[in-house]
Order: sequence, then structure tokens, then C-alpha cells
Amino acid sequence: MKKSEMGSRISTVVLISGSGTNLQAIIDEINQHQLPIEIISVVSDNPNAYGLKRAEKANIKTQIINYDSFPDRIIFNKILVQKIKESNPELIVLAGYMRILSDEFCHQFKGKILNIHPSLLPKYQGLNTYDRVLKSTDEYHGSTVHFVIPELDSGPIVLQYRTKIKPHDNPNSLAKRVQQGEYLMYPMVIKMFAEGALRMVDNQAIFNGKPITKVRIIE
Ligand code: GRF
Repeated sequence: MKKSEMGSRISTVVLISGSGTNLQAIIDEINQHQLPIEIISVVSDNPNAYGLKRAEKANIKTQIINYDSFPDRIIFNKILVQKIKESNPELIVLAGYMRILSDEFCHQFKGKILNIHPSLLPKYQGLNTYDRVLKSTDEYHGSTVHFVIPELDSGPIVLQYRTKIKPHDNPNSLAKRVQQGEYLMYPMVIKMFAEGALRMVDNQAIFNGKPITKVRIIE
């Protein structure tokens, strides 16, 4: 029997740095369609992240681990691991979290971390994907949900959303369309994981017992 059918919801920590619209989409999906997770904490490295307000409004515990109040990245990352270990989540969702996770973090929570990246990976790893794609001759742009491994934006891909680039698109108009897709896609993948259908084994994404060899794209 699937976990969700047993009525259990997997404990989840969401990491954010900014506006938290993906977090909001996930909260809405929990409230409106019984996405079978319980967000036990929303953690932000940025005390001014608007996503913190969204969490408070939904009565979700928030934790600020202010990057600027630590002497260096190494210490910040150590505290981050420690705090998340204390929560002992079954799933960690990166939703616009703008820091690079340490190797220790990735190893400690291996197979439990999902990220959403605004490009059709492996294209455009890193930042400013909208500017970069608009300077290219690509026909499509989109977003990717993948498991996290220590190599940046390189973990096994689960699902992608794509949209055609229009002649008059600018970074904002394109981001708007891509993000609408993210709000559909991220809860879908989280549900797959929460129900036990999706796993990462030996750095491969496994869905319903089979490796995902050909990436599924929705549009
Ligand atoms: C998303 O578009 C996602 O692709 C990227 O950062 C953005 C975060 O936006 N990782 P928000 O904080 O969820 O509004």
C-alpha cells in the first residue's frame, strides 16, 4: 500500500532564499489536493525572504539561518546540516534556495533532496538562465526537477517543463511562463516521492522500480 493511502505524510523541510512562489504552490497543493507531505519547517538563509511570510501565514514553522551572520561559508554550511539533522526530515525540497550545498549536506541527506532549476538541464547550469537562453538560438526554455548530488545542477533528472520561446520574450515574460509550469511540475514530483514511487539509487532516478533513462517533458 502506498504511504499516502495509509494516511501518513512524509516530513519535509523546504529551503528558500526569496519570494517563495514555488513554496506557495506546494502549500496550496497540500491544502487543496492532499499532497501527502507535512512541511515541518521552512528554512531560509535570508531573513528578508518573502517566502518566510508565506510559511507563517500557513502556520508552518520557520527557521532563519542568516548567511551573513556567519564568519564563512564552511561554518554556515555546518550549522545548516546540524539544524536540518535535528528536524530529521524524510524529504528536503529546495525551492529557490540560492546557496550551493556542501558535499557534507549532499552526503548526509543523499537521495532525499529535490531541486528545481530554471533551465532544460543539462543546458544552462548555474545562474541567469533566462538571459543566457535569450541570447541563444534555442527554440525552447523551461525548468527541471532533479535529485541533488554534490555536483551543481547535475543530479538525476526526474521531470522537465518546457515552453516555446516567443520572438518578443524578455527574461521576465519568459520566467513568468516557465514558473507557471514549475508550480504544476514540482508538486507532481514531490507527490511521486512522497508516495514511494520515486527514489534515487546509485545516482539514478528510479520511478516505479525502473530507471528514468528518457526524461519526461511536459509543456
Ligand atoms: C524558481 O523559478 C526556481 O526555478 C529557481 O528559483 C526560482 C525561485 O522562485 N530555483 P520562488 O522563490 O519559488 O518564487
